[in-house]
Amino acid sequence: MTDRSASPTSLRATARVREIDSFYVMEVLARAKALEAAGRDIVHMELGEPDFDTPGPILEAGQRALAAGRTRYTPATGVVALREAIAGYYQRRYGIHVGPERIVITTGSSGALLLAMGTVVGPGDEMLLADPGYPCNRHFVRFVEGRAMGVPVTADTAYQLTAAHVREHATPATRGVLVATPSNPTGTTLSAPEMAAIHHETWQRGIHLLVDEIYQGLVYDGEDFSALSLGDDLLIINSFSKYFGMTGWRLGWLVAPEYLVPELDRLAQNLFISAPTISQHAALAAFEPTTLELLDARRDAFRTRRDFLVPALRDLGFGVPVEPTGAFYVYADCSPFTDDSYAFCFDLLERTGVAVTPGRDFGAHGAARHIRFSYTTSLARLEEGVERLAGYLS
Ligand SMILES: Cc1ncc(COP(=O)(O)O)c(C=O)c1O
Repeated sequence: MTDRSASPTSLRATARVREIDSFYVMEVLARAKALEAAGRDIVHMELGEPDFDTPGPILEAGQRALAAGRTRYTPATGVVALREAIAGYYQRRYGIHVGPERIVITTGSSGALLLAMGTVVGPGDEMLLADPGYPCNRHFVRFVEGRAMGVPVTADTAYQLTAAHVREHATPATRGVLVATPSNPTGTTLSAPEMAAIHHETWQRGIHLLVDEIYQGLVYDGEDFSALSLGDDLLIINSFSKYFGMTGWRLGWLVAPEYLVPELDRLAQNLFISAPTISQHAALAAFEPTTLELLDARRDAFRTRRDFLVPALRDLGFGVPVEPTGAFYVYADCSPFTDDSYAFCFDLLERTGVAVTPGRDFGAHGAARHIRFSYTTSLARLEEGVERLAGYLS
C-alpha cells in the first residue's frame, strides 16, 4: 500500500484550515510548563482564564443535575428555563427587555461566534473588526469563507473600532462589523454613545452589528451596559466563561434578531445538536442573588489587581496610554525595551519566570511593539511578577 503518512497535496487539509493560526500564547504556556516541570517558579500572566473557581452554587446545581440524570440532549437553542433566566438577568441588571425566544444557548461564546458568522457571513463577504483583537474572530470569518478586514486601531480610540472607522473602511462587500467591549487584549471599553453611533452606521448601511460582550460584568470604570438596549437587530455574543467563572463548562449564548433564530436553530442542530446539558442546568444557579454577590466581589478583586498593575507597569517604563476599564488585561507597549515583542516574551520567561502573551497573537498592527499582561493571578503573585520585571529591565 502507498505510504500516505506524508499527506500528499491532494489530501492536505483545506486552505480554510491551513490559514488558521494557532495561539502563540500556547507556545509560551508550553515553555512555562516545561520550566515549571524543571523546578522553576513561574508567574502566570499569560492566561485569559479567571483564576477563581466556578462558584459553589453553580457546582452544586451541576451535581444535582448529574444526580437527577440530566445527561441527554437538550433542544438545540437550549433549555427553556436557562433562556428565561438570561432574559430575566438582562431585565434586572441592565433594565433591558428581551424575549427568551431570541436567546440561543451555545457551547461557549466560541459556539455563538461560529453560529453567528455562519449565519450572516457568506463567501467573499467582508467583516470589519479591530486589529488588535481576539484572534479567533478573524479565523471564524475565514472558516466561513468570508474576509476578515482588520482595521488598525490605536490608543486614540481606546483601541476600539468607531463609527468613523466604519465610515472609512466599509465597502459594498461589507456585511457586518464586530466589536468587543470590554476588549481582549486591550481591556478597553466602548462608551454607550460610541456604540450607539456604530449601530447607527451599521443600521443605515443595512449591515450586521455583532457585539462580543463576553467580558460583561467585568467593568471597573464607567457604565457596564449592553448594546442589546440599542435595538432588536443586533447580534450579541456572551459567555459563562469569564464573569461567571465557568470556562471549562463550555457555555455561552447569542441574542439574535427574531428572524434569524430559526436559521440559527437549524445550524446549531447540525453543528452541535445542543450545548452541554449538565452545564446548562448548572448555569441556572449563576443568576441567584448569592452567586451574583460572590461574582461581584471577584470583579472587585480584579479591579484591585488592575489598580496595582497598571501604574506599576507604567513606572517600569511600559506604555499603557489608555486605562484598561474592563476584562483582565493590560495591553502594554514594550517598545522602550525591544522591537520584537515575541522574542521579548520568551527572554522574559527564561530569565525571570514571568509569562506574558506576545502582541502577534492579536493581529498585525503594532504587534511587535506590544505584549498582553493578564491579571488572572493573585495580587501577591502580580507583585512578585512586577518585582522580577523591575530586576530584568534594570
Ligand atoms: C473576546 C473573546 N471572545 C470570545 C472568547 C471565547 O471564550 P468562550 O468560548 O470560553 O466563551 C474569548 C476567550 O478568551 C475572548 O477573549
